Amino acid sequence: MHLLILMAVLSMSPAAAAIISSNDADQVIGDLLKRVPLIDGHNDLAHQIFARKKNKINDLDLQNWTEVHTDIKRMKQGGVGAQIWAVYAGCSTQYRDAVRACLEHLDTIQRFVYKYPNELQMAYSSQEITETFKKGKISSLLGVEGGHCLDSSLSVLRMLYQLGTRYMTLTHNCDTPWVTNNLRDRNATNVAGLTQFGKDIIREMNRLGMIVDMSHVSKAAMVDVLATSVAPVIFSHSNSYKLAPHTRNVQDDVLLLLKKNKGLIMITFPSSFLDVSGEASISSVADHLEYIYKLIGIDHVGIGSDYDGTPSLPVGLEDVSKFPDLLKYLYVNREWTVTMLEKLIGQNFLRVFQDVERVSKSLKGMMPLEDRLPQSQLVNTTCRSAEY
Ligand SMILES: *[C@@H]1O[C@H](CO)[C@@H](O)[C@H](O)[C@H]1NC(C)=O
Ligand SMILES: *[C@@H]1O[C@H](CO)[C@@H](O)[C@H](O)[C@H]1NC(C)=O
Ligand SMILES: *[C@@H]1O[C@H](CO)[C@@H](O)[C@H](O)[C@H]1NC(C)=O
Repeated sequence: MHLLILMAVLSMSPAAAAIISSNDADQVIGDLLKRVPLIDGHNDLAHQIFARKKNKINDLDLQNWTEVHTDIKRMKQGGVGAQIWAVYAGCSTQYRDAVRACLEHLDTIQRFVYKYPNELQMAYSSQEITETFKKGKISSLLGVEGGHCLDSSLSVLRMLYQLGTRYMTLTHNCDTPWVTNNLRDRNATNVAGLTQFGKDIIREMNRLGMIVDMSHVSKAAMVDVLATSVAPVIFSHSNSYKLAPHTRNVQDDVLLLLKKNKGLIMITFPSSFLDVSGEASISSVADHLEYIYKLIGIDHVGIGSDYDGTPSLPVGLEDVSKFPDLLKYLYVNREWTVTMLEKLIGQNFLRVFQDVERVSKSLKGMMPLEDRLPQSQLVNTTCRSAEY
C-alpha cells in the first residue's frame, strides 16, 4: 500500500476508509487518466535543455533523463496526456536577441517531439489534443513565455502563431513597453496595466485564437486584460494570493473577474507560490485548489506544474511521475468526485481552448492589426536600426 494512501486511510473515519481503499483509488485514478487527458499547462524542460546542453538533443536520452524533473518514462508514469511546453527566453534578451532566443527554444521543442514520434506528437488545436490522446500519444503544445519574445511587434506575434504557439504569457518577470509584470506589485502604487498597444496585442491574440496567459503579469494588467479580452483567458501557472501572498499569485477580486470571463487558473507547484515559507506538500496544492474552486467554481481550475522551471517543489510532487499521487490525495483525503477530477485535469482547459477557437472563428471579418510601436516607446534602442 502506498504510504500516503495508508496515512490517508488511517486518518479517515472507519466507514469512509472502508469505502475508499487504496486499490480502489488506484483503479479510479488509473481509469480517469485513460479517459480524460491530463493537460499540464506549463513545463520548462526546454529551458533545462538550453541551460545544461546548449539546445543539443541528438545525444540526449529524453526517455530517461534523471537529472531533471521531466522525461518521457516518467511522463507516462504520471499519466500526462498533453503538455504545454514553455517557449521561454530570459528577460536579459529584451531589446536584444529575444526573438532569436525564443525561436531557438521553439526549434528545440519541435526537434525533441519529432525525435520521439512513438510517444510525442505536436498538437495545435483542442481537437488534436483529443485525437492524439486516443492514439495513446502525449500531445505537445507550445506556449510563449514572455511577451518580450515579440520585440513589440504584432507581425512577430502572427508568425509565432503560425509556428504553432497557442498561448502567450504576456510577461516573464520584466515589463515590456506595453504591459507591466508582477514585480511591480511589490511597490504597488499606481501601477499601469496594459497600454493601448497592449490592448491591440490582446485583440490580435483573440483574432488569431491564441490563449492569453496572465501568469507573471501585474495585478493592474490582469484587470485590464480581463476588461479587454473577448475570449476566456488563463493563468498557466499561478496560485491563490490569499493563501500565499506572493505577487505571482492571484487575488480574490481578480479570480472573481476570471470566473465572469469563463477563464481558468492552473495551479502550480513551486513551493514558495504555495506557501511563502517555502515549505509545501501535496496538501498545500489541495488547499489552493479547494480555496479557489470554493470561491469561483470547479469549472475554473486546472494544473500547471512548472516542472523544470523551479528548483523547489512540494514533498510528494518531485517530478512529472507524481500527478496521480495528487489526484489520489484529492479523491481519498479531500473527497473530490471523479467528475471534479475530470474537469481539473483536462476538461476545463479543453473548454477554454474551444471557446478561444470559437471566438477566433467569429472574428474572421476583422483585419489583422497593423499599428507599430514607435521606437520612442522602447526602453533601449541600441540594437535597433533607425528605419525599423
Ligand atoms: C536511467 O538513467 C540512470 C542515470 O543515468 C541510470 O542509472 C539508469 O540505469 C537508466 N535507466 C534505464 C532504464 O536506462
Ligand atoms: C521597489 O522600490 C525599491 C525602493 O525604492 C527599489 O529599489 C526597487 O527597485 C523597486 N522594485 C521594483 C520591482 O520596482
Ligand atoms: C542598451 O542595450 C545595450 C546593448 O544591449 C547595452 O549595452 C546598454 O547598456 C543598454 N542601455 C541601457 C540604458 O540599459
